[in-house]
This record gives sequence, C-alpha cells and structure tokens, in this order.
Amino acid sequence: MADNTTPTIMKGLEGVYFTETKICKVDGAKGRLWYRGYSIESLAKNSSFEEVSYLILYGSLPNVDALGAFRNKLVSCMALDGKLVDLIKGLNGKMAAMDILRTIVSAMPAFSEKKVFQNENDERIEEAIEIVGRICGIVATIGAVSKNGNYTGPDSTLGVAGNILYMLNGKKPDEKTSRMLDVMMLLHAEHSSNASTFCTIVAGSTLADIYSAITAGICALKGPLHGGADEKALDMMKAIGSPDNTEKYIEEALEGKKKIMGFGHRVYKAYDPRAKVIKAYLEDIQNGSTLEVQTFTAIALRAEKMMVEKLGETKGIWPNVDFFSGPVYTYIGIPKDLFTPLFAASRSPGWCAHMLEYWQDNKLIRPLDYYNGQLDIPYVPIEQRK
Ligand code: CMC
Repeated sequence: MADNTTPTIMKGLEGVYFTETKICKVDGAKGRLWYRGYSIESLAKNSSFEEVSYLILYGSLPNVDALGAFRNKLVSCMALDGKLVDLIKGLNGKMAAMDILRTIVSAMPAFSEKKVFQNENDERIEEAIEIVGRICGIVATIGAVSKNGNYTGPDSTLGVAGNILYMLNGKKPDEKTSRMLDVMMLLHAEHSSNASTFCTIVAGSTLADIYSAITAGICALKGPLHGGADEKALDMMKAIGSPDNTEKYIEEALEGKKKIMGFGHRVYKAYDPRAKVIKAYLEDIQNGSTLEVQTFTAIALRAEKMMVEKLGETKGIWPNVDFFSGPVYTYIGIPKDLFTPLFAASRSPGWCAHMLEYWQDNKLIRPLDYYNGQLDIPYVPIEQRK
C-alpha cells in the first residue's frame, strides 16, 4: 500500500490468513473438516471426546495406555475444590451460566496445583489437560448448583461426557445418552481460527498466561453470532411452538431481514459436516422421546428443509453446528443456559492446542485500522467551548 491511498479493509478479517497451523482444516466450499488430518466423520463414528482431545493437543492418536492415563487425568481434574464450588454457589442465580463460567475460569489459577516440570512444553500441556478437565467439571457443577444446589464429584469409572451428566444429575447416565453427548463434544472440540480461538490467540500473543487467553476465548464464544447461536436457535423453536407454524415463522422472519440462528457460516458455503452428524441423531431421537423433544425435532427438520430449499444453493446459507444442537441437548437433559458453556468445555482442547502451537513461534497480534477522521484540530480551552 503506497502512502495517501486507502488500504483494502477486510471487514471482519474475512479471507485473511494470520498464521499457519497443523491442527485443523476446514474446507468451506466442500463442507469438509479434519482434526490433525482425520475426517470429522471418521472421528464421530470411531472416536471419543477424550481421544480427540489427546489428538488435538498432542498431534497423534494415543495408544491404549496413553488414552487411559489421559482420560484419568481429565476426569480427576473434573473434581472441584470446595472453595471453587462455593464461588459457583455464590454466583448462582445472579449471572447467566456462561458469565459464571467466564468468571470461574479466570479464577482457576487460585485452585490449580503447581507441579514441577522438566520443560516448559510439558508444563503447558499439563496445564491444558487440567484446564479442559476443570472446565468440564465447572460446567457440570454450574448446572447442578442451579438445579438443586448440590455438588457431585466425578466417578472414575465414567469418561468425561458420562461424568458431565453424572455431576449434573447426580445419577449415572445410560450408555446411549452418554455416547450422544460424547459425540456432541467431539464435534465441537476444534474448528480452526473461529472468533473465540482467534481471541484466545490474540490474548496469548501478548504472552499473557493461558488462563487469561482461555477466558478471552470464552468471552468471544458467548455471542449469538458464534457459540451463543445454539441457545438462540432453541429459543426460535420454542417461539415457533408447533411444527405447523414453522414455514410461516421462517417466511416472516426472512421477509423482516432477520437472521435464522444456526444457519450460515463465514467459512462454510456448503452443508456444515458437523450439522449432518447431529441431524442424524435427530432422526434417531424422533421416536421414544418426550413431546417437547419431538416438537423441537419436527420444527427443526421442517425449518431446515425450508431454509435449505430457499437459501442453500442460492446463497450458500446452510445449517451450521448450532442449529440441531438444541433438540439433541434437550433429549440428553441439558438445560438451555448450559448449551454455550458446554460448547466452551468441548472447545477448550482446541483453544489450548492453538495457543500452545502459536506460542512455539509467537508474534504479537497487532493489526492496523485505517484512520479516516480529522487531524490537527485546534485545541479550544473548555471555558471557550459552546
Ligand atoms: N439467516 C438468514 N440470512 C443470513 C443468515 C442467517 N442465519 N446468515 C447470513 N445471512 C445472510 C445475511 O443476511 C447476508 O445477506 P445479504 O447479502 O442479503 O445482506 C448474507 O447472508 C451474508 O451474511 P453475513 O452476516 O454478512 O455473513 P458473515 O460471513 O459475516 O456471517 C454468520 C456469518 C455466522 C455471522 C452469519 O451467517 C450469522 O449471523 N448466522 C446466524 C448466527 C449463527 O448461527 N452463528 C453460528 C455460526 S457456526 C458455529 C460457531 O462458530 O459458533
């Protein structure tokens, strides 16, 4: 850019590459996604949240022993210090669950056991594992405290998803429900430089600590254009109320230039492959669930059909990961205000992995903005101003 010319401004940093990575590839045109080279479809079919978290953090799949040890570490970190539980109880009812999560995560170093490490990278990975496990325990406890005021510690015979449900409800989940949450979590575990991951990296690029960086990520995830869309999509299904109202509601919303939450994506201009996996679950839970879940499911499927016909091929607006989550989480027994905190717990391996990768060749992130205001305005003393 030569002096005196207006630079090209990429609003929302659309289309801008800021770093290289080996963690995740999103092919937005074809609707494909890979974690560390493994397709999301193969991971959803064969893997677990724990294994995917290991893969994302370490770069390769674990063997049996490594996975067992990793899972045990995550689960043991889900146990919370009594004072941390008291903090959650103190905030319960005064803030939204996502705001409690943000506050508690920024307080986490106060409850973290500092260990002695051979080298900095070991320390960072251990910190990351602790953060992932801890956030999962915190999210379950925020839900449990809001539900009945009780804290239930993790059960070492269960995995992370099973323990989230156990800590939330105080009773062991059945295998089907537990596996459904497991898959939901692994589908959310990583997604390249989305707003919250970028925000994490921006904070960490100043060489702030990982807790500060992850707290920044949680702040960015909250908004309805990003992770908060899952709660808003369910709000819409509730507002539609009955499946037969779906088409009229969507028609009027689009005529009023409203966005339908859970549709559209900055990168995907094809069907989000994560949404395809979740949609298959909807078809599975349609029968044998509560009337509420059946209603949400029927509305979601009719809304999806209409949106895809109207805006899919023509405008590249397809369902994203947040659209079908609501009916599935409701089926699993997750309350609505825990959807986005659960998204944060699920995404925490991705945030940590990106932070660790970026720190290996850190560069302060400091873009430019183009000033288009006046310059050299004469200063008028306050008593002379009108
Ligand atoms: N419903 C209706 N129209 C839409 C939607 C939607 N959900 N999304 C985009 N559009 C239209 C938009 O109105 C605009 O139309 P026009 O060109 O006629 O003005 C065009 O598509 C481009 O939209 P944009 O908002 O400028 O595109 P973007 O790349 O900045 O937005 C987005 C991406 C995700 C913010 C947007 O699609 C959106 O707001 N979707 C709803 C919120 C949502 O579901 N967010 C979750 C994203 S995926 C999971 C995650 O990352 O958390």
